[in-house]
Amino acid sequence: MKALVVYDSVFGNTEKIAMEIGKVFGPKKNIVRIRKLTPEHFKGMNLLIVGSPTNGFCPTPATATFLKNLHGLKKIKVAAFDTRIDKAFVKKLFVRFFMKIWGYAAEPIAKMLVKKGGELVVPAEGFYVAGNAGPLRDGELARARKWARQILAKMKS
Ligand SMILES: Cc1cc2nc3c(=O)[nH]c(=O)nc-3n(C[C@H](O)[C@H](O)[C@H](O)COP(=O)(O)O)c2cc1C
Repeated sequence: MKALVVYDSVFGNTEKIAMEIGKVFGPKKNIVRIRKLTPEHFKGMNLLIVGSPTNGFCPTPATATFLKNLHGLKKIKVAAFDTRIDKAFVKKLFVRFFMKIWGYAAEPIAKMLVKKGGELVVPAEGFYVAGNAGPLRDGELARARKWARQILAKMKS
């Protein structure tokens, strides 16, 4: 199996999660920031995991462009994650309201991956940061490993 973990990150938190997820997939994995991707990275890939910070209820512009230009996902297993702020910790009520209505980045990423022909192996997942620049909340790296192990199990079944 060749897993490719693709991510964007502004402050480094999504990168940490991507690294943690990638570790689960053994020596043949690739963990690559979107702007450093080359066509070579996709060769022989059978699992694509895409992660982005949530910015304005959406994936980052770099992630959105990457997804828009993506093709050839037939028979490729896919999964999506984001980093996000728990709306329970957001003081401004109107912001909480829009977070509830418009959601986070992972779900639209997963939808786009499926639209491009990918086969979603686990539900989209979000990992929490304590503030815009982080840090990741306690336990999120462990939760990322657990999520990745679920993907690995699906790849083997
Ligand atoms: C301009 C901007 C917009 C943001 N919008 C959201 C948002 O809509 N929902 C949310 O949960 N977090 C939002 N955040 C917080 C991000 O989730 C947080 O910065 C990100 O998870 C950090 O990941 P990174 O370190 O990989 O960049 C926003 C942050 C910035 C800077």
